[in-house]
Amino acid sequence: MSSDPPNPRPRRGLGETLAQAAGDAMEQRLLSQIQGGPIPRHLAIIMDGNRRFARGHGLLRVEGHLRGKEKLEELLNWCLEVGLRTLTVYALSTENLTRDTEEVHELMDLFTESFRKIADDPRVHRHRIRVRALGSRERLPARVQEAIRYAEERTRDHDQYFYNVAIAYGGREDILQAIRAIAREVEQGRVKPEAIDEAMVSNHLYTQDLPDPDLIFRTSGEERISNFLLWQSAYAELYFCDVLWPGLRKLDFLRAIHDYQRRQRRYGA
Ligand code: FPP
Repeated sequence: MSSDPPNPRPRRGLGETLAQAAGDAMEQRLLSQIQGGPIPRHLAIIMDGNRRFARGHGLLRVEGHLRGKEKLEELLNWCLEVGLRTLTVYALSTENLTRDTEEVHELMDLFTESFRKIADDPRVHRHRIRVRALGSRERLPARVQEAIRYAEERTRDHDQYFYNVAIAYGGREDILQAIRAIAREVEQGRVKPEAIDEAMVSNHLYTQDLPDPDLIFRTSGEERISNFLLWQSAYAELYFCDVLWPGLRKLDFLRAIHDYQRRQRRYGA
């Protein structure tokens, strides 16, 4: 039998240790700068690049998605640290539902586990985080719907932070279901067509009681909105970063917030 200790830690070279120390110092400096400025009220994230990350690291596709899920759990801490109160992540678009059956199944398992885990996460109850799913949940398998119900039910009275998972979500579908609901109210004589205004449409979207996103952040180098929060993003700042989602570092996240703080928001004025 070998006498090697189990899982020996790879020894770090001096260069690596110095690079790590420099990265930590940059992170600290950025964090204190950010804490003096305006934090987005609502950050929306398009988490992109799980499969490319897996390919680049010799991992299975499912492991790429698993690393993506772990990254999201880490990101929640960063949001709490900077005091970011509303976070919406794009977990699954209506288009993603057409991926091959095996991948969709793997993703559904991850979502089920993720909603159950977050519902029991002490952080969620300590910080009073309300968890919700946005999208056409009737298109999801029963196990995911049940996990969503569990997370929403366990956190329904929390009111300090808002964590929203856009799942089976499409921006156009969001607008369509709002139009249909308003049309029904017109048909029943409860609303006059000329009374339909922006606030009424906003109030019929999945995001009805949330502020519009101030910042939309997408990873992986793609620069598209991909049917995410179309109505709600009218005045959002957009930030794109080249890192693949599972490889996102706290420094990348802080840079996005810092960049947002340097922009002048004019709302068309
Ligand atoms: C984007 O990468 C990721 C997805 C479409 C899958 C969903 C996200 C996760 C599993 C992260 C965790 C989320 C939750 C709610 C647990 P991609 O598959 O499009 O990869 P690619 O751009 O490299 O092809």
